[in-house]
Amino acid sequence: MATLTYMPTEHVPVLVPELLALTDPQPGELAVDCTFGSGGHARAVAARIGPTGTLICVDRDPSAAARFAELEPELCCEARFERGDFADVLERLVADGAAPNVVYLDLGVSSLQLDAAERGFSYSYDAPLDMRMDTSQPLSAMEVVNEWPADRLQAAIRAFGEERHARSIAAEICRRRPLETTSELVEAVRAAVPPAYRFGRGHPAKRTFQGIRIAVNRELESLDRGLRAAWEALAPDGRLAVIAFHSLEDRRVKRYLADRARGCICPPDLPVCRCGHEPEAELVSRRAVKPSEGEIERNPRSSSARLRVARKLGGAGVTGAEREGPRG
Ligand SMILES: C[S@@+](CC[C@H](N)C(=O)[O-])C[C@H]1O[C@@H](n2cnc3c(N)ncnc32)[C@H](O)[C@@H]1O
Repeated sequence: MATLTYMPTEHVPVLVPELLALTDPQPGELAVDCTFGSGGHARAVAARIGPTGTLICVDRDPSAAARFAELEPELCCEARFERGDFADVLERLVADGAAPNVVYLDLGVSSLQLDAAERGFSYSYDAPLDMRMDTSQPLSAMEVVNEWPADRLQAAIRAFGEERHARSIAAEICRRRPLETTSELVEAVRAAVPPAYRFGRGHPAKRTFQGIRIAVNRELESLDRGLRAAWEALAPDGRLAVIAFHSLEDRRVKRYLADRARGCICPPDLPVCRCGHEPEAELVSRRAVKPSEGEIERNPRSSSARLRVARKLGGAGVTGAEREGPRG
């Protein structure tokens, strides 16, 4: 195996002015940063909520806890760090009756995780197969790659990586077992895909790495549970913001928020509304907000970011009776 290369780079937070404008944190409010990372968003939100506000910072990566300890003296609000899966932390906040005014999630991995070669997240560096955000969890990429049956591995690469060559990639991985490093995984992918894909746009192993990483960290399960708990925890008039980096996550967020914002749920063939169902949310951004060209130029990793924000209605909305009438 080649020597490990450690190349820490700064994590540049994405869509910061947009997140602030759409969530509009106010002095004295309680905010939850579910994905603290290097604290770029936390710093900006802390400045808005000020010394009378409180920021709960969450991350499951121990390196984020260390970063929080460094940054805490610079945060201009009350702040505390909770290490763990944001879904678990948010469920605890619900149980404790905390009612945050702002909850935000900036999903995926940070540049610091991607560029720490030994974490095994990146196809660009040679490292042991790992990919765990929470380095204390037992499941790592080593087990997924070497021990999962071919059909389960194929399903993860297809579903979570949206990789159309998942079947041949999984078969090639199984043929080459045991694999120990990210370079061996890249070589297996290269051997399994057609030449046009191998030399096409983008790295041929990008989707396979994404699929395995999402499986290792159970990212979609955390997202689904986290969205539900965040919504339940939010105070009336509270704002939930999510930044997603691929369509799998963004579709889930879009559907979840659209369901909260739906009023009438009568069958579509009913001429008048009878259900009286109330929308629970107002979509603050009708469409996903994307980074500007300038931001993408300064930070190419921001290019796939999509921000969606919803506000929890406080019960003063239109009643079912008022809304009842001909359906458009
Ligand atoms: C894109 S980075 C966030 C960067 C951060 N907003 C900043 O400005 O530096 C995503 C972070 O979320 C963390 N993370 C991802 N999924 C998580 C989960 N389910 N629970 C807790 N932390 C998670 C990762 O460990 C990573 O540090």
